[in-house]
Amino acid sequence: MARKNKTDEVIKEFVYDTFSHDKTVERYTDDTIKIGLWESEKEMIKKHFKVSDSILDLGCGTGRTTFGLHQMGYKNVIGVDLIPSMVENAIKNNRAFGSDISFEVGDAMNLRFENEQFDACLFSFNGIMQIPLQKNRIIAMKEIHRVLKKGGIFLFTTHDREINEEWFPFWEDEKNKWEKGEQDPRLFEFGDRIVEEKYRLVYLHFPNQKEMKEAMKESGFHLIETIPSTDVAKEPEHILERISPCRFWVFRK
Ligand SMILES: C[S@@+](CC[C@H](N)C(=O)[O-])C[C@H]1O[C@@H](n2cnc3c(N)ncnc32)[C@H](O)[C@@H]1O
Repeated sequence: MARKNKTDEVIKEFVYDTFSHDKTVERYTDDTIKIGLWESEKEMIKKHFKVSDSILDLGCGTGRTTFGLHQMGYKNVIGVDLIPSMVENAIKNNRAFGSDISFEVGDAMNLRFENEQFDACLFSFNGIMQIPLQKNRIIAMKEIHRVLKKGGIFLFTTHDREINEEWFPFWEDEKNKWEKGEQDPRLFEFGDRIVEEKYRLVYLHFPNQKEMKEAMKESGFHLIETIPSTDVAKEPEHILERISPCRFWVFRK
């Protein structure tokens, strides 16, 4: 039976399993301390966020981008993540950065914040695409729209299944499998991938641009800019070892 037929509880459990593993948390902590913001992230943040902005760093993990923002002078920032152990580590990381940033557990699909509370929201490292099912991602987009002030900016990245020619045969093959109902039964929808790492299964949705534009429009957002990360900045080797090219999206409420 395909996962898409399973209950929301089972899906939630699967997301918790993906991110709660000690080694995952360790790896994100390592990125937080040793890598920090990518060059492309710095460029996009400088271009679209104002230093005085109140910023929600959603899916903050152990705080890689939250501390990065703080170091760039964005002091009015809060980090929120679904996974308690990520948040616990983010709070501990305050010591390493000599900061006192607030971090808390929260679900992008059901935020505790009042309407129109933030000037900007960041959902980095393709994190929004790790929410299984398009309907759930749209719930998250609508929540983000709700907590942003009018004119507020939502900056995030996604993979893009139409960006990298090397992967075209893979997606063509996937399409054929889905048409015949022969896809990996663990997947929810076309565009999903489950990447098997040593100690965990990583769920990721690879959208195309059309799908993203439609979902964001349905959520009330207006597109400002979309650009492949490789066109924004050249990343140093130690960052390239950790990331693969993705697409930046900037939307306005
Ligand atoms: C790829 S990681 C990125 C972490 C961090 N932003 C970074 O760049 O190092 C994605 C993060 O999104 C979080 N996440 C996934 N689903 C979420 C949800 N529904 N609400 C809040 N956070 C979520 C995960 O726990 C994970 O920490």
